[in-house]
Amino acid sequence: MSASRDDIMKELGLTPVWRLRGAPAAEPAAAAPVAMAAQAPDGEPVTVRVLPKVVPLDARAQGIVNMEWPQLKESVAGCVACPLHKGRNKTVFGVGDEAAEWLFIGEGPGAEEDAKGEPFVGQAGKLLDNMLAAIKLKRGHNVYIANVVKCRPPGNRNPEPGEAAQCEPYLHRQIALIKPRLIVALGKVAAVNLLKRDAAVASMRGKIHQYQGIPLIVTYHPAYLLRSLPEKAKAWTDLCFAVDTMRGLQSGKAAPM
Ligand code: URA
Repeated sequence: MSASRDDIMKELGLTPVWRLRGAPAAEPAAAAPVAMAAQAPDGEPVTVRVLPKVVPLDARAQGIVNMEWPQLKESVAGCVACPLHKGRNKTVFGVGDEAAEWLFIGEGPGAEEDAKGEPFVGQAGKLLDNMLAAIKLKRGHNVYIANVVKCRPPGNRNPEPGEAAQCEPYLHRQIALIKPRLIVALGKVAAVNLLKRDAAVASMRGKIHQYQGIPLIVTYHPAYLLRSLPEKAKAWTDLCFAVDTMRGLQSGKAAPM
């Protein structure tokens, strides 16, 4: 389905129309429990559940840092490194162009994402797709979308620091494999986890931060924008800033500050 630009603007609560300036019109994560056949002392066959070995975070991170896409996906799919795995239906690895210039990072899956195994497919996802369309981007085309955590936090609460820490090596590896030109952190959870700095989104927007040498811009989370109409105009400002920054990066000029 393709929405017109006016539909998108309406959806974002930003009519009259926004315009782009100058735009022509090794070590896998702990494995899942394995069932094994064994024999009881009386000779009766029993099934023993072998609990996964809990691999220390540093050792896990060292294994993950060299994984290629297939191994990384497999490792996420079987991950039991934090308690979030207990409530999940599907892991939500990330979606899009694995060589994208644009990387959008959210917080963690909600109910719809958990059911489908794809990030941002609920209401917030629709708004994200419209935000992308407003800057002439499309999910999967030069865009990758990922989250800080790959399993749904119960009740859509924020991921706990320990949960985010266990998932961090996966996101790091995704970023290293994608090598995006620009990262857009969607909301405070993404910004704080990537920048290791506890600050409000309001104070982090409008600047070019760095994530391991990659420029990073912070904007509001689409779910927050759905609840807070006035911030949509600010999100549009952030998207324009991101587009200007990307143009600067593509042309090899220093990114604007
Ligand atoms: N919110 C997020 O941060 N990520 C999703 O995938 C969905 C909603």
